[in-house]
Amino acid sequence: MGRRPALGRAGNCIGRTKAEYIVNEPRVGYPFRNPEDSESLSLQTEQPAAFNSPSPTTRRAVSNMDFLRAKAEGRKLSMVTCYDYTFARLLSKSPIDGILVGDSAAMVMQGHPSTLSASTELMRLHTEAVVRGAAGKFIVADMPFLSFRKGLAAALDSASILMVAGAHAVKLEGVDGHEDVVQRMVQSGIPVMGHIGLQPQSVHAYGGFRVQGRSRDSGQNIVRQATALEELGAFAIVLECVPANLARDISAGLRIPTIGIGAGAGCDGQILVLQDLLGMNRDFRPKFARPFLDGERCVLEALAGFGHAVKAGTFPALEESYS
Ligand code: KIV
Repeated sequence: MGRRPALGRAGNCIGRTKAEYIVNEPRVGYPFRNPEDSESLSLQTEQPAAFNSPSPTTRRAVSNMDFLRAKAEGRKLSMVTCYDYTFARLLSKSPIDGILVGDSAAMVMQGHPSTLSASTELMRLHTEAVVRGAAGKFIVADMPFLSFRKGLAAALDSASILMVAGAHAVKLEGVDGHEDVVQRMVQSGIPVMGHIGLQPQSVHAYGGFRVQGRSRDSGQNIVRQATALEELGAFAIVLECVPANLARDISAGLRIPTIGIGAGAGCDGQILVLQDLLGMNRDFRPKFARPFLDGERCVLEALAGFGHAVKAGTFPALEESYS
């Protein structure tokens, strides 16, 4: 028996999805490299050759300004959620443009049925962990349920906690009724990302996680909110679970980029929950959440390998023991 049988088997886990999606997918790479300013902003992190990226010394962090530039230049943006140090460290070696410390942490990390259970304190802890792992990445932190609806001062206090934790921007769901908050944050130097369409913090108002904007009125309402967010100074907008045509039209009408999730290919960028992208939960596969890995199988195979090796007495081997 080899030294690490479980690892050998786990290699087989990168199955259908890798060949189909990763190999054939155009690589986004690091689209924001500008040789003129690369020196002052360069990062000293290593980069796997597989991503076909510029050398580590010319790589620099993406910022909210780069999001606007990408839109102007017609370059797509990729974002994923992340909540912990270990995955943040991996993301820091990837070509992903930005990380969202989403309030989906309440569901994905804490097992709650909705995002309503996320608090500013929970978001602070997750943000700090992600910042420790991916300091060179552009990191957006989610403002949790009601944290921006209790008045301007309370909203700024909450945003301040997330920014001091190391986030480069905050994301707020909706816009109606907290226009002043968005505006004051922007005026205070806090880049704001909007989030419209399906707003998970309003799940109970919808009666479930439902596609938004299918009716004419609802669609027009989302267009109006998108325009309002742009006028208030948001640098980007997440469009969640809206018809692809609506998302395409909204994207075409804005100067700021839209980042879609369940909103079709006409958005200026895409975001997925990391655990969905990695296929970590076979029981949860929304239509839009393409798994790029069969993560559940990989993990289960590794755990089975370890369990069997322990019972068979083949783990630990001599070279895994101290003399
Ligand atoms: O919290 C989250 O994961 C999000 C994404 C769905 C955009 O807001």
